[in-house]
Amino acid sequence: MILLTHGDREYLREPGEELQTDLGVVEIPDDARPGDVLESHLGEEFRVRRLRGPDLFNHLQRTGAPMLPRDIGLVLGETGIAAGDRVLDAGTGTGVLATYMGRVGAEVITYERNPEFAEVARENVRLAGVTDRVEVRTGDLTNEADPSGFDVLTLDTEDAPDVVARAGELLVPGGFLAVYSPFIEATREVVETARGTLSDVRAVETIQRELDVDERGTRPSTGPVGHSGYLVFARNV
Ligand SMILES: C[S@@+](CC[C@H](N)C(=O)[O-])C[C@H]1O[C@@H](n2cnc3c(N)ncnc32)[C@H](O)[C@@H]1O
Repeated sequence: MILLTHGDREYLREPGEELQTDLGVVEIPDDARPGDVLESHLGEEFRVRRLRGPDLFNHLQRTGAPMLPRDIGLVLGETGIAAGDRVLDAGTGTGVLATYMGRVGAEVITYERNPEFAEVARENVRLAGVTDRVEVRTGDLTNEADPSGFDVLTLDTEDAPDVVARAGELLVPGGFLAVYSPFIEATREVVETARGTLSDVRAVETIQRELDVDERGTRPSTGPVGHSGYLVFARNV
């Protein structure tokens, strides 16, 4: 899978496919490589790019609201997810978090209880090029008896506390839990549940301010505060 770009426009395509736009038709060669410049039949130039993590957020077909790349960065940084780690994830939703984790080399089992969303997520996993590392299972994680021994457990579901309650059985000693929620009430419930069995429990709000940089000077944007949600991290004893 590659990206074709023209100015601000981006198109996700397979090599060998045809791209049809108002800027003309582009025949994409089977051997298209990053850096190639392809011309449409109207003479417009499109550049070939390799797909990278943030492109998943922008181009995968959306079902459940995907996590922002910056929040995913916090999950990766705070839990230290690395190549070869076994990660249990729910719910898959669009699969942006799951595919990011697969792209850094983690072996991910991700649960999605909505069968139609799970089908879309499997296609997204294919587009992200991580079918060998990310397995989408259709099912409700609160009902699944999973094998234990996960290095990291990542949750982005309303019923996360039900899974957090048995996180100690799912995680290896020293393994990490990361739970994302857009709401304070849910975050409090996760913290209180995690305190029952896990250590190093802490919650953070994730806010990011854009900078306006122009000829008059540089200052934080006066646009909306960049709140996205809350993350709870904890560690198995
Ligand atoms: C907000 S989305 C997750 C987005 C995902 N983290 C991403 O980055 O694309 C939440 C998804 O969890 C699914 N879900 C909710 N509770 C679940 C459960 N107990 N087991 C499995 N999936 C669940 C929902 O159907 C929904 O698709």
